Amino acid sequence: MPDLDYNPLSLKNPPPPAAAARCARQRSMSVSIKTPDEIAKMRVAGRLAAEVLDFIAPHVRPGTTTGELDRLCHDYIARVQQAIPAPLNYAPPGYRPFPRSICTSVNHVVCHGVPGDKKLRAGDIVNVDITVIKDGYHGDTSRMFYVGDPSIQARRLCEVTFECLWRGIEVVRPGAHLGDIGHAIQQHAEAHGYSVVREFCGHGIGRKFHEEPQVLHYGRPGVGLRLEPGMTFTIEPMINAGKPDIRQLADGWTVVTKDHSLSAQWEHTVLVAEPGYEVLTVSNSTEPGPSLPNEAHD
Ligand code: MF3
Ligand code: CO
Ligand code: CO
Repeated sequence: MPDLDYNPLSLKNPPPPAAAARCARQRSMSVSIKTPDEIAKMRVAGRLAAEVLDFIAPHVRPGTTTGELDRLCHDYIARVQQAIPAPLNYAPPGYRPFPRSICTSVNHVVCHGVPGDKKLRAGDIVNVDITVIKDGYHGDTSRMFYVGDPSIQARRLCEVTFECLWRGIEVVRPGAHLGDIGHAIQQHAEAHGYSVVREFCGHGIGRKFHEEPQVLHYGRPGVGLRLEPGMTFTIEPMINAGKPDIRQLADGWTVVTKDHSLSAQWEHTVLVAEPGYEVLTVSNSTEPGPSLPNEAHD
């Protein structure tokens, strides 16, 4: 883990504001700038992670268990891609080793759902989160899937969360600040009456699964780390239909909404590159970003 002077227990909890201010300068120094050679490897890892999601999509249907999704993805990553599923036995400080190769977060599960023998049911929404390691570098991406025909409300939450991810991506450019990303996401989520989960955030990524910086999904424009070409990080907003509060289950991993409202998440790994950004977690069938109208302000 990076040498954070806050955040003793979590893999990617945001720092308290005081700590954030105190170590802003130090932090920007520990954000790695990837070389062209490393970026080439990140592109490969990112594409592989996206291809796992393409591969699993047709299997996400009523009656399939999340454990089956895990086994299918594990075999695809290990045998076909000759890559490593990063979650398996991943154990950041304060966590027990993650026992599976992917995360599957169904309905009111916010993130880090542990695949098991529960069957998916028509009407469920499920996030599948894939992280692979190829040639020493990580690619991390997740999408929402519909099981059968979810309610209009459930589908709307998934769509708006996808738009939140892209509102965040679209502000990425050299010279922009991390707070610009968080602000764009928060603004869009709250304009729809949804809330942003505060306890987990995006993260730098490269040789390590979770590295500096922490990419909050809420914030203020112009605040925080200045982005530079060669930085690579994830944006992965978790958006709740109800209140933002979360609870961690006794398995030590699964995170749920306290009020049991639905939660959605989408994730891409992005590179800061002139004149803006490059999304690294793309495959031939990755859904492109939406066309985003200007946010209405009141
Ligand atoms: N893939 C998750 C993320 O987006 C992290 C999962 S940690 C695990 O950062 F151990 F649960 F896999
Ligand atoms: Co991530
Ligand atoms: Co992820």
